[in-house]
Amino acid sequence: MDHFIKNIVSLLKEKIDLPEDGIKRLIEIPPDPKMGDYAFPCYSLSKTLKKSPNVIATELSNAIHTVRPIAEIKAIGPYVNFFVEKETLSEITLKTISEERDNYGIRSAGKGKTVIVDFSSPNIAKHLAVHHLRSALIGNAIYHIYKTLGYRCVGINHLGDWGTQFGQLIVAYKKWGGENAHHAYTVTDLNDLYVKFHQEAEKDPGLEDEAREWFKKLESGDAEAKNIWQHFKDISLKEFQKIYDMLGIHFDAFVGESFYNTMVQDTVTRIKEKGITKVSEQALIVDLEPYHMPPCLLRKKDDTTLYATRDIAAAEYRKKTYDFDKMIYVVGSEQKLHFNQFFKVLELMGYNWANCCVHVDFGLMKFKDGKMSTRKGKVVLLEDLLVEAVERIKEIIEEKNPSLENKEAIARDVGIGAVIFADLCTKRSKDVVFDWDEALNFEGETGPYVQYTHARLCSILRKFGKPMTADINFGLLKEDETVILIKNLGQFPSVIMKAAEFYEPSLICNYLIDVCASLNRFYNAHRVLSDDAELTKARILLVNTTRQVIKNGLRLLGMQAPERM
Ligand code: ARG
Repeated sequence: MDHFIKNIVSLLKEKIDLPEDGIKRLIEIPPDPKMGDYAFPCYSLSKTLKKSPNVIATELSNAIHTVRPIAEIKAIGPYVNFFVEKETLSEITLKTISEERDNYGIRSAGKGKTVIVDFSSPNIAKHLAVHHLRSALIGNAIYHIYKTLGYRCVGINHLGDWGTQFGQLIVAYKKWGGENAHHAYTVTDLNDLYVKFHQEAEKDPGLEDEAREWFKKLESGDAEAKNIWQHFKDISLKEFQKIYDMLGIHFDAFVGESFYNTMVQDTVTRIKEKGITKVSEQALIVDLEPYHMPPCLLRKKDDTTLYATRDIAAAEYRKKTYDFDKMIYVVGSEQKLHFNQFFKVLELMGYNWANCCVHVDFGLMKFKDGKMSTRKGKVVLLEDLLVEAVERIKEIIEEKNPSLENKEAIARDVGIGAVIFADLCTKRSKDVVFDWDEALNFEGETGPYVQYTHARLCSILRKFGKPMTADINFGLLKEDETVILIKNLGQFPSVIMKAAEFYEPSLICNYLIDVCASLNRFYNAHRVLSDDAELTKARILLVNTTRQVIKNGLRLLGMQAPERM
């Protein structure tokens, strides 16, 4: 598709005073192919040329001469509309996909550049929360999208494994930890200890002082404190890893906040040397009043450091270690202020790379019936949610296709895929409402629907049963439904670019839904396997390339594409 846009841009460039890139961005695909294959809107030229967009469109369409593969140019209202040679369109698009296969969509735009994606980043000694799941899924998709564009990607899990709460937990563990010593400790036990600490501290405020003492010991490297803390960390990582394995998510590094403990003092010294710190109520802060933000707290009065201090140290360390071109933090919207604050401190420290740091925020995940309920009823852990999704899909398969081979594996791919898709298909800044019936529906705009469409295409190809050949008469792929589908397939690379630009995996989901809808319209209107051998060959190629694009798209989202369902 890039091919035609390139042609159109070079025709337009001769006649209008806009940079190539600007023209390219304006080009649209009209919803009705009768209006043209591509359209250039003239609104933005209206001001400089002091003419109405309709007049400009007419003048432009008269001034530009068609050159192959552009077949016709026509003004329609404020748009200059371009019709391309259908045969060339089909040939270029389908040949490119058939040649590039699993690599279709891969670009080299990011070659030589490094992107860090900081994602999921749960807190140890607590269960992975729903926002850590959202961050994991959005971050994983962004990681794959950037990788496809040729960037070197470094996925970092910035574990929350430091802070005064670990002092509290150590106190609780020492006092009451023995009560659970008869079995291997779990995150649930740690959670219980945490709750118990807060209950007891209400009655005995001295416990808080003890906790502060223990955290100070931890910060200064006390062996006993470190051992207990390490134990908490091991338990937590084991539980997190189980969920990441279920989701098929990989991190290049698990480097938690604790890692920066030895660096924070130097970081604080550097910030102080810039003359931007102040002491306020015995705490060390950076005043951000001129930027209309509350102060950034660097060090508390008891000398311990904070979340923000560790994030600043981490940013410095990552710049030194990876020399990133972009650093993406995938963290919920509720931390917007935190990121604005510490990005500002980086800027005030004189780091010109501060503006390469981006907070990719997202809304909440809510559950239709209020709580996050599964059949077990109780407050649900993420693991239960994933397990239940797989079980429910297993029941659907059992009912619809009981003789399916490999049921377990397929139910896992589809169940997990349903959760991933349900999470990613909403624009990330909006809240997601998770509803079991909706997410698992094979006919809605869901993961199972996209995967099922893919499996149906695989089944048509199995029925055809012959190898694909190169001698295709592309002139046969000419009906409206067919051309719309082919155009959809050709858009994949530019959709990936856009998804990267806006850090928006939902664009990939919407795109896949569009492709499936076009495929279904094509499939309902035309027979793929018929007595006409030439036509069958051409349509089979279309089926195979559509299958390929869906598979590549699902991969970007971190989903599997089973061949049978
Ligand atoms: N652990 C934090 C939380 O659960 C998220 C960390 C996000 N990453 C970061 N570099 N601050 O809220």
